[in-house]
Amino acid sequence: MTTTPDARERTAARLLDSSVRRSYDPLIEIDWDAPEVPGRYWMPPERSSLYGTPLWNQLTDEQRVELTKHEVASAASAGVWFETVLMEMLIRHYYDQDPTSRHAQYALTEVADECRHSIMFGRLLEAVKAPRYRATWGDHALGRFLKATATGTHMYASILLAEEILDAFQRDIMADESLQPLIRMVCRIHVVEEARHVRYAREELVRQVEAAGPARLAYSRLILGRAANTIVNRLVHPDLYEQVGIPGPLGRRTALANPHFRETLRWAGAKATAYFTELGLIAGPSRLLWRRSRLL
Ligand SMILES: [Fe+2]
Ligand SMILES: [Fe+2]
Repeated sequence: MTTTPDARERTAARLLDSSVRRSYDPLIEIDWDAPEVPGRYWMPPERSSLYGTPLWNQLTDEQRVELTKHEVASAASAGVWFETVLMEMLIRHYYDQDPTSRHAQYALTEVADECRHSIMFGRLLEAVKAPRYRATWGDHALGRFLKATATGTHMYASILLAEEILDAFQRDIMADESLQPLIRMVCRIHVVEEARHVRYAREELVRQVEAAGPARLAYSRLILGRAANTIVNRLVHPDLYEQVGIPGPLGRRTALANPHFRETLRWAGAKATAYFTELGLIAGPSRLLWRRSRLL
């Protein structure tokens, strides 16, 4: 891993170049009025949070399709919420940068990508007629706190964690030709553009960890562990289960206890958690938070 200022500029220049060549406007690229294809899932059924449970076995095929639709919608709601937090964090980061640097210019480019993504997710939620899957009061407050204060290590690490988890699900969806065309297209656009964000965050995180002192790192570990819990909470929003007639608290409880889904969570978080472990960001008391998040 290269961490010099030169390397930072080289990476940003490469990412800027790639952004010019491969960026998508979802309002042009996606046919938002195309009808849903009957019987097709919205994500591979084995990635559903209830897959393999008695609740899953009780559902009709139609209900299972509907469940995956709302699981995708709950994740997209989390995506919009997270991107809003991320944009404010990146703009605050940019505030202190030299505007002629490629690093600063890429931060703005990433914000521009996220603006389009949040509109895309908003259109998706509208297209599938999803109810508003809001964050809990506590997670909403944590988001407000993070977007106003987070810097350095925990800022880049929480960005990376959310991006890697969504990316894992989206790559799966993108590759599966049996799924709804709308969600595959949304995922394809997001995966292409997020690959650059992931590269930017992974490299910058190393520099931020190297620059942080021990007290600052200890604080970052705790905030990151808490953020991991928030991200998982948002993936299994209780209201989504109500859409197929399952009481919300029961659906969520079943999902979080489901060994299939726990394996899916570990799989989705694996790239990020391996990297954080390597960088010493999962250690000490924060391990308890990580265990509670079910990502480890
Ligand atoms: Fe995004
Ligand atoms: Fe992103």
